[in-house]
Amino acid sequence: MFILTTAPGFTDLARAELRQAQPDAFFFPDIAPGVLCADGDFFALADKWRQNPPIFTRHICPALTTVSLTQTASDLTNLQTAVAGLRDLIEPEFPFSVQTRIFADGPLRPFDVNNALADFIKTETGAPLDVRRPFQILSVVITQDTAYLGVSLTLHNLSDWAGGVRRFAREKGQISRAEFKLLEALEIFGIDLPPRGTALDLGAAPGGWTRVLRQSEQYVTAVDPANLHPSLQADKQVRHKPMTAEIYLLNDPDPFDLIVNDMRLDARDSARLMVEYAPFLYPQGQAIMTFKLPKNNRTAVLDHSFNILRQAYRIANARQLFHNRSEITIHLTK
Ligand SMILES: C[S@@+](CC[C@H](N)C(=O)[O-])C[C@H]1O[C@@H](n2cnc3c(N)ncnc32)[C@H](O)[C@@H]1O
Repeated sequence: MFILTTAPGFTDLARAELRQAQPDAFFFPDIAPGVLCADGDFFALADKWRQNPPIFTRHICPALTTVSLTQTASDLTNLQTAVAGLRDLIEPEFPFSVQTRIFADGPLRPFDVNNALADFIKTETGAPLDVRRPFQILSVVITQDTAYLGVSLTLHNLSDWAGGVRRFAREKGQISRAEFKLLEALEIFGIDLPPRGTALDLGAAPGGWTRVLRQSEQYVTAVDPANLHPSLQADKQVRHKPMTAEIYLLNDPDPFDLIVNDMRLDARDSARLMVEYAPFLYPQGQAIMTFKLPKNNRTAVLDHSFNILRQAYRIANARQLFHNRSEITIHLTK
């Protein structure tokens, strides 16, 4: 048994991804909106998805054992007993972490469960606790009457974060929430920006992505008919082109190390524009873009948009990240 997490409005697409990867898997009733429980071979699935990650399934973890809960103080002791049964799965020489998610009203709090079970594992196995860079994870998912527990390697879970929930702290000077989207994409897709690289930001206003790129010392050409935030207007390393991406194409663009595109456009039109911009990306360059998803025919629109992109790019990764709403984020190389 295992638990899959997706954005609540996208469970149908996550189910389809699992059915495609494991046609024999079947679903139990959902644990919570966007939290699905299924039966199948977790480790075979995890290996398959590690090579070829799904788009809409954000996180998976095994449920190797369950504990009946009463939502009283004795639950913690019963959880420890269950963990004792899993101790042989924990490699003593490698760092571990406990990730607890709670979908119930009761006395248990994630922090308390994490601490109690981590102390127990340290004492029982001698494995070091490292919540930032764990090699292995005990995942605990708690509902009103049942806890699901399982141990897996971090790389099996599709995300290092519990449920794929990657939060960033709000910063002074932040321009838009969209900044989190780019920060998450850079981290999850493992993209290193070149020192003092040149970046093209299509659909830049009000300028959150441009600000993130400036923090990595990129010189940014920001294309958007709308105004940029005043803090960027004063920045000499930001060149604002107050026009559409279609018009900027006719203005002899420079070559860039990075093209980012968060334009509010139909995904197919956005993909076509990216193909037209491909000649202005250096051969080793990379691109990050979002596809805004329609309410209907999402799969057909996505497939069509990916096919357009393939005319000029390799699709290195496509994921619905925690900070994506009705959209996905795509990493492209040439
Ligand atoms: C979601 S906002 C971008 C937010 C931005 N990434 C940030 O971090 O602040 C979408 C932007 O796309 C711009 N846009 C839509 N169509 C465009 C086009 N054809 N060319 C350039 N910009 C476009 C809109 O003006 C809008 O500012």
